[in-house]
Amino acid sequence: MSDVVVHRFDAVIVGAGGAGLMAALQTSAYANVAVLSKLYPTRSHTGAAQGGIGAALGNVEEDHWEWHMFDTVKGGDYLSDQDAVEIMCRDAIDTVYELEHRGLPFNRTPDGRIDQRRFGGHTRNFGEAPVRRACYAADRTGHMILQTLYQQCIKARVNFFNEYHVLDLILSEGRVAGVVARDIQTGGLHVFHCKVVIFGTGGYGRAFKITSNSLAGTGDGVAICYRAGIPLEDVEFYQFHPTGMYRMGFLITEGARGEGAILINGLGERFMERYAPTLKDLAPRDLVSRCMYNEIREGRGINGEDYLYLDLTHLGREVVEAKLPDITEFVRVYFGIDPATTPVPVQPTAHYAMGGIPTDLDGRVVIDEANTPVPGLYAAGECACVSVHGANRLGTNSLVDIIVFGRRAGRDALRFIQQNEAPPLPADAADRARAQVNHFLNGESAEPVANVREDLRSTMMDLASVVRTAQGLTECLSRLRQIRERYLRTRPGDRGNTFNTDLLETIEVGYLIDISEVLATSALARTESRGAHFREDFPERNDRDWLKHTLAYNRDGRIELRYKPVRITTFQPKARTY
Ligand code: FUM
Repeated sequence: MSDVVVHRFDAVIVGAGGAGLMAALQTSAYANVAVLSKLYPTRSHTGAAQGGIGAALGNVEEDHWEWHMFDTVKGGDYLSDQDAVEIMCRDAIDTVYELEHRGLPFNRTPDGRIDQRRFGGHTRNFGEAPVRRACYAADRTGHMILQTLYQQCIKARVNFFNEYHVLDLILSEGRVAGVVARDIQTGGLHVFHCKVVIFGTGGYGRAFKITSNSLAGTGDGVAICYRAGIPLEDVEFYQFHPTGMYRMGFLITEGARGEGAILINGLGERFMERYAPTLKDLAPRDLVSRCMYNEIREGRGINGEDYLYLDLTHLGREVVEAKLPDITEFVRVYFGIDPATTPVPVQPTAHYAMGGIPTDLDGRVVIDEANTPVPGLYAAGECACVSVHGANRLGTNSLVDIIVFGRRAGRDALRFIQQNEAPPLPADAADRARAQVNHFLNGESAEPVANVREDLRSTMMDLASVVRTAQGLTECLSRLRQIRERYLRTRPGDRGNTFNTDLLETIEVGYLIDISEVLATSALARTESRGAHFREDFPERNDRDWLKHTLAYNRDGRIELRYKPVRITTFQPKARTY
């Protein structure tokens, strides 16, 4: 390993979004911790979460964590593990106050408490009517969380390795021994030898053509674990957010509908009244996205085209500009229109992965139906599947998830650090990562990886998105096989070492292909419709055969599917009506 720099830490946290930073704060006081991020930390995708973090504070009307739990389980179409949901909804309250005490500038009620707004699927008294549960900082809630936690990490003297791209996970004697990363600035390989690795690398929305995810959302941690033999859980459940900016996919927060905005079709109808008479535009995202798809398919898009309008014009300029300043700016810049006076063209956009690296309640990565942990390996946030979101996540619960389970993972990791030594570092620790880099830098073909990536994203969008069929998914898998063959023959135009983002993107596309194959394979096998997984050829939920989690294993490139039971503690599955 003479070409490799070796570092030693107690814990290495991969990813500097909310989950990673929260975990870093728990561990750094008593352990030597490094955070590795392929971005500058405050550019992490947590910063794109806009409308709020859900917690039953009851500041503006009566609310209880049990109602939050019910909404989350029902919103997830009963696939969530309810013990995990209970922890999340109880701890949400305490963690929001922790964020407040750490300096997060929440919007306030007139009497100075944290203000709360409505969000999709959040109700009072077990489904009676929408409730104000989302604590928010204008439409910059994720941004504020990220800034707050990053400042706290700097204060806690966490060691940051910014612009380090993690390429591999090192396992030794059945335990975690570290990770291998490439310094993007110099191209140098670095081995981080440690007792604990925590992945907080976010999702993989870049697998789809229209997405709200930033460029970095390429599933790195998920694919790295999968390649290392960790199964992936429930990857078929991928959420489309109803209000992406038409053709661009950028998010227009659900907080807009929380403030009273409505969706309208080409006939000028508020069509959600027909599909969800109680919650209307604030029904859960899976339902709203499917209804939008239906309106468009039946010719009721705006001017018969493939988009609808989000109408904020009745809210008044003051509300729009004060409570939704960022989206107001996006819409002005990218569409050249003023949302206070003109309806905004929207379409569903790939937004959030409910599935990912399986973990237990303390963020420990588990590898089988019996939840056997891999010693020293943790995951939290969107890359993980604990599973609180089941088949469909409610808005605001991603921010709750990263904070609650980032904190729990960090605390358990600290316990592990105090009780264990790092296993020996294998002599070949960096070999796989080095071989991967060399394969692409010395490749033969000159097809740009960007072509392969665009075909991948169109394939996933056309055949594996809001509505799926066996025929479409089979075609999707066949195209993915061809895409993989082409991918393996690509090479970056840039062969250099300094800031070779061409190579970085090439590696990211490989991660997306792996995860897309798992998604399509798991979706093809699941012959039912549940949450965000809608099979037109199997439109009903089937609890008898499918109330179970998928585990997809990588067996030398072939995918093996196994299943494990859902943990139901409080709410028995019922038909979902809104
Ligand atoms: O609509 C939004 O502001 C997104 C929030 C979320 O995904 O939780």
